[in-house]
Amino acid sequence: MESILINTTDETYPVIVGNGAIKELPNLLRNLNPSKVLIITDTNVDALYENVLEDHIGREWATYKYVIKSGEAAKSFEMFYELHSYALKQELDRKSVIIAFGGGVVGDLTGFVAATYMRGVPFIQVPTTLLAHDSAVGGKVAINHPEGKNMIGAFYQPKAVVYDSSFLQSLPESEMRSGFAEVIKHSLIRSEPLFHFLFAEVRRLDDITTEKLQKMILEGIQIKADVVSKDEKELGLRAILNFGHTLGHAIEAEAGYGKLSHGDCVAIGMLFATWLSNKTLGASLPYEELSSWFKEIGFPIEVPESQTTEQLINKMKKDKKTKSNQLTMILLKEIGVTTSEIFSEGELYSLLNEWREEKRGDKG
Ligand SMILES: NC(=O)c1ccc[n+]([C@@H]2O[C@H](COP(=O)([O-])OP(=O)(O)OC[C@H]3O[C@@H](n4cnc5c(N)ncnc54)[C@H](O)[C@@H]3O)[C@@H](O)[C@H]2O)c1
Ligand SMILES: [Zn+2]
Repeated sequence: MESILINTTDETYPVIVGNGAIKELPNLLRNLNPSKVLIITDTNVDALYENVLEDHIGREWATYKYVIKSGEAAKSFEMFYELHSYALKQELDRKSVIIAFGGGVVGDLTGFVAATYMRGVPFIQVPTTLLAHDSAVGGKVAINHPEGKNMIGAFYQPKAVVYDSSFLQSLPESEMRSGFAEVIKHSLIRSEPLFHFLFAEVRRLDDITTEKLQKMILEGIQIKADVVSKDEKELGLRAILNFGHTLGHAIEAEAGYGKLSHGDCVAIGMLFATWLSNKTLGASLPYEELSSWFKEIGFPIEVPESQTTEQLINKMKKDKKTKSNQLTMILLKEIGVTTSEIFSEGELYSLLNEWREEKRGDKG
């Protein structure tokens, strides 16, 4: 078991990682001395691990559970409202602790409920997806607006993250792949050695052994922890975590939430950002190798045909990081070294079109 400390201005909290990490949960709760405990989970996780948390927590505290419908659609106003109503009905107070038990959807939604219920109650993240090695760390919590992903939210740090990798055993392949995209992202922006390790050792998802999984989770969390500790509120450095996300989020939103996995969309976004880095910065990144590797793993490697470049640019403009008609893209100077570059809307439109054309040419 390993423990990584996250240091932000408001909070210092542990991310406990490893097989069996869940055993730490009662101690963490005891330190918080909750009046009540509310577990929020989703239908899939509940079906697989129905009483697992309750069994670990025991009977020391009055414990309630609310099960949301699985899927991105749950990050909505309606569900947010519903959870507040439920918490009020069970008479949770400011000493109550909320536990997010699930993937990034449960984590983001629960975190935002915790951030706002009675102006904020403590919460603990118990992530169950590979993707959540990213989403559960760093305190960004949010729900979606039909106009854009994660548009309503807060920076609100959990009191602890308990990342028990044994939960990942039941993940379907598509979700494993989705989370793997964020691991690749962490390596590309911050760690050349991790990138080379992944590139050499994980040609297909089946290559991910327990040891490899443990290594990528730990190093991914360490990278995220390091970035977040230096820039909690995304005033500068933290923006590098958006590598692959400007286009990725646009594709995801344009498809309709939940239609394409987050990681699949980010993978397309990372390929475009890599191509763009070579094209506009003169970088010499292994774009072709990355592209065939992604294909082998099963990632989509191009934007869905049904989405027009114009639609995507419009969505990208809604990105929270956009200023007037300029779009900021995180690019790579080399593997592990990022730079933030500004493009005009027209410029990026042409470049995205050119990339798409080039891909069509490759096929024909
Ligand atoms: N807050 C952040 O910093 C941050 C960072 C990245 C992504 N996100 C958000 O995270 C979300 C995506 O997270 P996700 O990919 O974990 O999605 P998710 O929570 O929807 O989980 C994916 C699917 O796997 C199922 N599942 C979860 N755990 C399982 C398990 N152990 N076994 C079997 N099935 C399981 C879920 O029910 C769901 O169907 C997006 O909303 C994204 O915006 C947030
Ligand atoms: Zn992401």
